[in-house]
Amino acid sequence: MAYKITVIPGDGIGKEITDAAVKVLKKTDEKFQLGLSYTYKDAGGTAYDKFGTPLPDDTVVACKASDGVLFGAVGGDKWDGVEPSLRPEKAILGLRKQLGLYANLRPVKVADALVEYSPLKPELAKGVDLVIVRELIGGIYFGDKCESEQYKGSERAWDLENYSVPEVERITKLAFETAKLRRGKVTSVDKANVLATSRLWRRTTAEVAKGYPEVALNNLYVDNCAMQLAIRPAQFDVIVTGNLFGDILSDEAAVVGGSIGILPSASIGTDTSLYEPIHGSAPDIAGKGIANPMGTVLSAAMLLRYSLHEEAAAKAIEAAVDQALADGYRTADLYKDGFQRVSTDEMADVICERI
Ligand code: NAD
Ligand code: IPM
Ligand code: MN
Repeated sequence: MAYKITVIPGDGIGKEITDAAVKVLKKTDEKFQLGLSYTYKDAGGTAYDKFGTPLPDDTVVACKASDGVLFGAVGGDKWDGVEPSLRPEKAILGLRKQLGLYANLRPVKVADALVEYSPLKPELAKGVDLVIVRELIGGIYFGDKCESEQYKGSERAWDLENYSVPEVERITKLAFETAKLRRGKVTSVDKANVLATSRLWRRTTAEVAKGYPEVALNNLYVDNCAMQLAIRPAQFDVIVTGNLFGDILSDEAAVVGGSIGILPSASIGTDTSLYEPIHGSAPDIAGKGIANPMGTVLSAAMLLRYSLHEEAAAKAIEAAVDQALADGYRTADLYKDGFQRVSTDEMADVICERI
């Protein structure tokens, strides 16, 4: 076996967290003899500074030629003034589009050791185990927008939300397939009381549901869903939604588990898939060695599971992360008196020792 992984650290804490995840992957490789190799590529503001573009062609080519992509994060205040089409965020948006990564799976499972960190009451956070299936290459993110030079400084701006039936079918089918392997419940989230795109979404989802009699479908408006996530998150199994609603709801769902730093994601397409934590480049803590690497480490586990079909190795990483938490190791975001405070790199070592 030989698997090629493209690693894209990106900006801010990106290097620290991907270094930690690669350390864990190397340890896992030693144990499971996976034959992993790594190619590092630039993207984001770092790439913009070096090459004048946030997403060099060479990066896309390397991703396409690999078995899986491990991505850190991009963005930062430093590039706030950059022309919109060259912003660091265009790197991740471009990769999603060019690799055809239509589905973003964002699992939120509250580890017992972290229940007390949740901003919710322990009885509400305990046992939460849901996955957000976010459509990733359509909707308002990729609709017509007034981005070109011609509209610079103009008095009106727009971003067009649009979805087609095939786009909605593709993502909802994946959500139903996911639910079949879990607790058999799909919640589709939209704003069908106001938006035409949401009405098409709801109609299409109902059609897809007919092919999955064993899965229960319910529909929620996004505002209600935001509230339900705060008052009774354990009711959810699979949440399927569009690009923008999925972005917002997944940050909300993330903190149910105590810190955004621990949530991984898999962006799945028809060919090479990409794995990244759901948080951003955290410029406020970059370079301090205090970022929580667990979201990236768990993203690496998802890479082993979905792209390499190395389930045992993926599970070993997940168990090691759980064990590190159970043994009381904490990065700054989760640190409290009585626990063992560790840096990003030390946390990687603690996880490696438990592989
Ligand atoms: P953020 O997720 O970077 O940070 C939000 C808060 O969470 C900050 O206080 C940060 O310190 C904290 N945080 C995030 N990750 C953490 C970790 N691993 N450990 C400990 N604390 C962590 O969101 P933001 O501040 O809104 O955005 C910063 C930049 O990141 C922006 O340029 C944004 O566009 C970009 N961003 C990129 C991605 C991506 O690359 N996929 C995702 C989200 C945001
Ligand atoms: C995410 C991020 C991205 C998004 C940004 C950086 C483009 O917030 O991955 O959740 O909005 O999708
Ligand atoms: Mn986001």
